[in-house]
Amino acid sequence: MLLEVHDVTKRYGPQKALDGVSVSVPKGQVVGLLGPNGAGKSTLMKSILGYLPTDGGTIAFDGTEVRDGGDAMRRRMGYLPEHNPLYPEMYVREFLDFIAGLHGIKSKAARDAKVEETIKRVGLSPEAHKPISALSKGYKQRVGLAQAILHDPELLILDEPTSGLDPLQLKEIRNLIKSFGESRTVILSTHILQEVEAMCDRVVIIKQGRIVEDAPLGDLIARGGLEQAFDALAG
Ligand SMILES: Nc1ncnc2c1ncn2[C@@H]1O[C@H](COP(=O)(O)OP(=O)(O)O)[C@@H](O)[C@H]1O
Ligand SMILES: [Mg+2]
Repeated sequence: MLLEVHDVTKRYGPQKALDGVSVSVPKGQVVGLLGPNGAGKSTLMKSILGYLPTDGGTIAFDGTEVRDGGDAMRRRMGYLPEHNPLYPEMYVREFLDFIAGLHGIKSKAARDAKVEETIKRVGLSPEAHKPISALSKGYKQRVGLAQAILHDPELLILDEPTSGLDPLQLKEIRNLIKSFGESRTVILSTHILQEVEAMCDRVVIIKQGRIVEDAPLGDLIARGGLEQAFDALAG
């Protein structure tokens, strides 16, 4: 398994945001983490990335505990946070060059090559000369995806990557994520069932910090589990 989350608990004060979550993800899978607002999706993702200390359980990436993995392990993961925080005053290339630097690419020539390659991969070429503040929401999201994949991570974690996009942008971003998923392991969160249907191999439904469903998408559809999934989302 590339990722093994075992019996993880996370408390914020008296509240359990994660309550005994276990999930294992093999290499190559695209996992949709589905759940209503406040279910614990972002908390689980930040825990997997090692950004958030947990209160119990273990999280292993490629056999090593994430809390022991440090920067070397973090470089093997890519992350698009919820609300896609960017530096609006920076130019697209400038921002991606900055990200490449954070990932330890020292030579300017190597950074330039990586930035250009990534711009092509996410379809940013026509907008790449602009400051981020001048981009539409869909193109901003491509910049967010670009910073997440620039260093060729083995595991890509995307927190609500399609929220707030218009239907055309939505379709384009879905297709991009699908294409990333062909060659890597992806965990993406959403509170929209159709998103999972459009992009994922597997559905993990989380509710009030617990996993209430975990199945291949096809199985869930075949046994009529989608309705149950809707119920879980409704509350
Ligand atoms: N920093 C925090 N401090 C206190 N409570 C938090 C914090 N972050 C998240 N929570 C709570 O933990 C629960 C899970 O939140 P979150 O993981 O953001 O859910 P989701 O991403 O599924 O919407 C929610 O009830 C939320 O209010
Ligand atoms: Mg969230």
